Amino acid sequence: MKTETLHPSFGILVQADKGEQFKDLSIQEIESLFKEHRTILFRGFETDISRFKAFTQQFTSEFSDYKGGGSRWKMIDRKSVGNDKTVMTTTGANQSFEIPLHGEMYYMDSPPEHIWFYGDVAPTEGGQTTICDGITLFENLEEEVQSFFLNNQIQYQRFLPDGVWQDTFLTKDVEEAKAFLASKKNNAVYDATDKSFKVTYNCHPLVEHTLSRKRAFINNILYIYMAEWAFTSGWIKGHLNDTTTQSPIVVRQGDGSKIPYSIIESVMKTAAKITYNIDWQQGDLAMIDNTSVLHGRRETVDGVPRNILVRMGDPVHKNQVAASV
Ligand SMILES: [Fe+2]
Repeated sequence: MKTETLHPSFGILVQADKGEQFKDLSIQEIESLFKEHRTILFRGFETDISRFKAFTQQFTSEFSDYKGGGSRWKMIDRKSVGNDKTVMTTTGANQSFEIPLHGEMYYMDSPPEHIWFYGDVAPTEGGQTTICDGITLFENLEEEVQSFFLNNQIQYQRFLPDGVWQDTFLTKDVEEAKAFLASKKNNAVYDATDKSFKVTYNCHPLVEHTLSRKRAFINNILYIYMAEWAFTSGWIKGHLNDTTTQSPIVVRQGDGSKIPYSIIESVMKTAAKITYNIDWQQGDLAMIDNTSVLHGRRETVDGVPRNILVRMGDPVHKNQVAASV
């Protein structure tokens, strides 16, 4: 294999030598490259959905079926592929809007550590996946923005009416949904009158990266902030032809007050300077450290085919270590 740096602070491209297959790669070597670079883009290997599944399960286990996922809203929801619920389309696969940088599922405790993408149909124009190093992002934030995040918790608030929470928590049983939310350290209030759930989750917006011990800005603030704006500003009504005006999920400061727009704007400006585009080629596969690297999507172009598939879970070795303790 041949390797090449993707971005000055993180990421590596692993390219197949002539005729090289995934099975020819050393698992240990890939794991150590991943530890060092935190994102690997595999290119030039023979791939299809079954190879994608076989390759990813050498490194990752406990694959998520997106239970509890925050983007299960109506037409933007993911779909599972074939009969495997852990291979999914991306959020908003049929809509063209840009998706701001985010960590995957940070609105619940213990988000998946690995996220994988597979370029099943690479778009010829637009729709690049964006990635941004959350460690460098935090280091580059303005001092007062850094101190805002160092000194504030954040709170995710979710509003799940009857019919929506069942799809979100993959159950019709209220007690089962409550138990799942408790296991994810979410505070849930069920209203028996209208059969809805109100859920809150307080956490820190920064995560200490296990290996480097550095702080990473990784959370769902930018995505959810912009999603709320899309609902309240009328963008959803104008673009997705839906009259809902309350966002199913919002993000606030730990005490429930709003996060100032100046903070959001400053993070977005800083992030824009250090964001890297994955310009998908057919059959590319990306392995991303969801504990320190944010991802998103550039706007897609109507009529340009694009099918990027996703899997997420925890490192195989994490569970082996846990099992042996
Ligand atoms: Fe995502």
